[in-house]
Amino acid sequence: MTKYIGILTAGGDSPGLNAAIRGVGKAVINHYGMQIIGFRDGFRGLMENRTMRLDGGELSGILTRGGTILGTSRDKPHRMPVGDKTLDMTDVIAGHYHDRHLDALVCLGGGGTQKNARRLMEKGLNVITLPKTIDNDVAKTDTTFGFDTALGIATEAIDRLHSTAHSHHRIIVVEIMGHKAGWLALGAGIAGGADVILIPEIPYEVESVAEAIRERSRNGKPFSIVAVAEGAISRQDFEAQLAAKEKKIKGEKMAVSEMQYADHTLRLAKKLELLTGLEARVTILGHLQRGGTPSAADRLLATRLGTACADLINQGHYGVMVAAKGDGTRAVKLEKVAGKIKTVPPDHPWVESARRVGTNLGD
Ligand code: F6P
Repeated sequence: MTKYIGILTAGGDSPGLNAAIRGVGKAVINHYGMQIIGFRDGFRGLMENRTMRLDGGELSGILTRGGTILGTSRDKPHRMPVGDKTLDMTDVIAGHYHDRHLDALVCLGGGGTQKNARRLMEKGLNVITLPKTIDNDVAKTDTTFGFDTALGIATEAIDRLHSTAHSHHRIIVVEIMGHKAGWLALGAGIAGGADVILIPEIPYEVESVAEAIRERSRNGKPFSIVAVAEGAISRQDFEAQLAAKEKKIKGEKMAVSEMQYADHTLRLAKKLELLTGLEARVTILGHLQRGGTPSAADRLLATRLGTACADLINQGHYGVMVAAKGDGTRAVKLEKVAGKIKTVPPDHPWVESARRVGTNLGD
């Protein structure tokens, strides 16, 4: 009996998505003789029954392309904006899955997608996921595709910022994506030789950062690169947030909104200027880190995970995420991944290496 597979990409796009779609698609069609159809724009496309043919030509020439040919969205099956309402559309989605006689649904996404996939699994759908995100924060996998490409882009940015910071005797604070995890800032900061690296997992003291910069000036280097993760937080703000969360738990309205910290990079640069006497500039790398062609490592990883996904579908092994494990892959039950986030352990070898080469981590 021919198997019918649906596939979608959800959450923020990530380099390597097309390589993964191609990996799954070519393996299920050519190797296993199955049929596959794409749903557009994540779970929204499945809810609206909007599809894209993926039966041959569409899977060619996409290995090197950034973004996702299927389109994506951050819409969740159980909280779907429909008109001016937000509705639970999981039953509608399950209905479309059954109407199309699908045997399995492949969801390519990050942490949020793992949770949404689990919800659909609990509705009886045969779901299988692949971990993608530039943040590298999906639990139970060595890494995620997209991370290596973003790491390369952020590292090159830091390389380029060095010469201008040096010429103008400035501090350049470069903000790097990563959501609530510091993998990207830490990795790029180390690879690019940033003088200071600030990540969410290690709340920073601005005075410690300022002193590291002043020390460099005293040693004849009156310029510094500060790589700051978008989720980084000062110890002071961290404690204020904790207090606010405690109040919320006690039933009071949260006094400090998380959004209050959205401009923290700009405020940090201003403070460093005041504390060091050096001029500071801010570079926010933003979506540049997610755009463009995937690195060779991401193409390879996405292809490995995609083809392993096809093998699992062939075996009828569902309700799992295809995780990267060394040179191979392993199937991890969705309940072990959904709702978890992989942050940087404060004693991670990358953290230790950064300290050994004298990088200030703000603590
Ligand atoms: O999860 C990937 C990511 O790029 C995060 O690093 C960042 O916080 C977020 O997505 C940005 O989301 P959006 O593209 O929806 O603004």
